Amino acid sequence: MKREQWASRFGFIMAAAGSAVGLGNIWKFPYLAGTQGGGAFLAVYLIIMATIGVALIMAEIGLGRAAKRNPVGAFSILGGKKWMVTGIIGVTTSFMILAFYSVVGGWTVAYIVKSIFGTLHVNEPDLLPGQFNDLVTSVGEPIFYHGVFMAMTAGIVLAGVADGIERSVKVLMPLLFALLLILVVRSVTLDGAWEGITFFLMPDWSQVNGPMISAALGQAFFSLSLGMGAMITYGSYLDKGANIPNASYWVVFLAAMVAVLGGLLVLPAVFAFGMDPAAGPGLTFITLPAVFGEMFGGYIFQIIFFVMLLIAALTSSISLLAIPVAYFAEEFGIRRSVSTTLVGLVIFAMGVPCSLAMGVWGDIKFFDMNIFDVTAYAVDNYTLPIGGILTSLFAGWVILERLGSELTNEGKLRFSAMPAFTWLMRIVAPAAVLWVMVSNLLG
Ligand code: PFF
Repeated sequence: MKREQWASRFGFIMAAAGSAVGLGNIWKFPYLAGTQGGGAFLAVYLIIMATIGVALIMAEIGLGRAAKRNPVGAFSILGGKKWMVTGIIGVTTSFMILAFYSVVGGWTVAYIVKSIFGTLHVNEPDLLPGQFNDLVTSVGEPIFYHGVFMAMTAGIVLAGVADGIERSVKVLMPLLFALLLILVVRSVTLDGAWEGITFFLMPDWSQVNGPMISAALGQAFFSLSLGMGAMITYGSYLDKGANIPNASYWVVFLAAMVAVLGGLLVLPAVFAFGMDPAAGPGLTFITLPAVFGEMFGGYIFQIIFFVMLLIAALTSSISLLAIPVAYFAEEFGIRRSVSTTLVGLVIFAMGVPCSLAMGVWGDIKFFDMNIFDVTAYAVDNYTLPIGGILTSLFAGWVILERLGSELTNEGKLRFSAMPAFTWLMRIVAPAAVLWVMVSNLLG
């Protein structure tokens, strides 16, 4: 059977950028920046994206294209059986992330519906926290929307790499950028926005500290979909002629830009209406609707916002689902359609306890955390960092030469950053991630 391929380079860049740009950029990044000191956090995040981020994304895409396989197959073909475990960690992580990611994706669908029908209490901001709480803690409603979100994800993946994923991201990603720009323009032109803009863009270096750097590194990883084989999987569908370094620069640039725009959308609006930028995870679902309620044209902007958030989530969730789908199809010969349906159902089932953990199952605790939080915690603190360390060590020490020839298309392209790439993969990335992991565990 002929392996699927991206139909165009633009399609690949949109797919990879779509994977990177997600809830992480628009939901998590602004609230992290809000709680971690604004501009300084942004600066540290951008530095990490431009160094470790760029190098690791290139390595993953290169590994994928060199092996033309899912992450498990890729590591074992290129490095032998003992490296297979890195791929297995990746596939396992994709199940875990998608389980809770889809629950949050479901909330965005719910908020689109509520926005359209005008049932969000945007004019009584005091009721918004309760309303959000009611949604996430109830049983049927969030599970229903989680199912809707998973069905959309599986529907796109089911249609195939070029006909499903690529076709949809080519429309969705430009749409996302357009909607985001509209919202940013609205936000930065609000009276009183300036304070938020300076908070976000002017670094106050005294805010830089260990926990903040560690949060920025974790965010850069999650936001570039690194450490779990998403980019290996997408890279595996890339044709031999494509310029990987160039595509990687684009993807990192677009992901960083959306994080910056996400911050410029959320923080100025929050400041302009005198709300608390450090409101945390509720910023998107509680604070912003209150802002929309006070804003001229808020009804429309609110719908645009949640539609944009859904697009961001969906173009990421399809890349998460693509990982296990490729794995089961290639390693066990299961038909793609069957594999997509089965994996989709399993992940839906895994998401149910994550959703219930917000409410009726909130008392079921592991290490003092509910099921949702423990899953996110395990991913953030263990599987992604370990995946990242192993991937960079593998790239830097085991197959550096092979990878070098992959990145230069067998010497046909110039890649002058190869020495920097080598250092980043061999020493800098593994050491930085290890430091973060250990300090999180100790702290
Ligand atoms: N990069 C996505 C975000 O920032 O929301 C999350 C993600 C997608 C992580 C795909 C990992 C992945 F494989």
